[in-house]
Amino acid sequence: MQTTQIMGVDIGGSGIKGAPVDLARGELAAERHKVLTPHPATPEGVAGCVAEVVRHFEWSGPVGITFPGVVTGGITRSAANVDKAWIGLDARALLSGQLDGLPVTVLNDADAAGVAEMTYGAGRGRTGTVILLTLGTGIGSALFTDGHLVPNSELGHLELHGHDAEKRASVKAKEDGDLTWERWARRLSKYLAHVEMLFSPDLFILGGGVSRKPEKFLPLIEGVRAEIVPAVLQNNAGIVGAAMAARPPGTRPGD
Ligand code: BGC
Repeated sequence: MQTTQIMGVDIGGSGIKGAPVDLARGELAAERHKVLTPHPATPEGVAGCVAEVVRHFEWSGPVGITFPGVVTGGITRSAANVDKAWIGLDARALLSGQLDGLPVTVLNDADAAGVAEMTYGAGRGRTGTVILLTLGTGIGSALFTDGHLVPNSELGHLELHGHDAEKRASVKAKEDGDLTWERWARRLSKYLAHVEMLFSPDLFILGGGVSRKPEKFLPLIEGVRAEIVPAVLQNNAGIVGAAMAARPPGTRPGD
């Protein structure tokens, strides 16, 4: 049914992927379409790829788009792992322009994944303080209190032993440093313990590609009180959350 479908697009370090999302079920309504992220990931280059993904579905409704940095009011405010030209840019206007004026909502990628997990995935029905962390090229975070999102929490950039935490504990850090699961899990444990010291969450949800192999590292995590679970929507959480964020007013639960 067209009314319950919204287009979601996830801008990532390696790929830009999207699909119409069935919001009644929190699932993709069609097989997702992916194009490679251009390098450098300039605003124009990325916007062209987003348009390619959206056109693939001949889509003409609202579009939700994730961005791997801080986003307030459609303006992208940081760019740790993409081209610095995004900083201070009116991304909503740029992307909507590329999409012939379709209504566009832009939000942080981890916030999108978090909102999707809280509604359809591992955080469903969970109250208290919940923190979702996406472990990938960087570390993204989504902070919830009783189901309400505090946007742009950026916990991947906490300082850990004098370093930007994501440079030590992301999956990229594991790959770049050729770290064993054991060594990486030690770093991740220290990072999680630090986040726990600051926020005392009831639940950590760990997302990103590694959430598909929780048995490799979850049993190795030490010194953390909170419950830790893998994300369940995995690769599609960003797309689903982006679509949820783009629902027109009056169609959101509780409206
Ligand atoms: C960015 C975050 C983003 C995360 C995952 C970090 O470097 O600062 O905004 O959510 O990477 O992409």
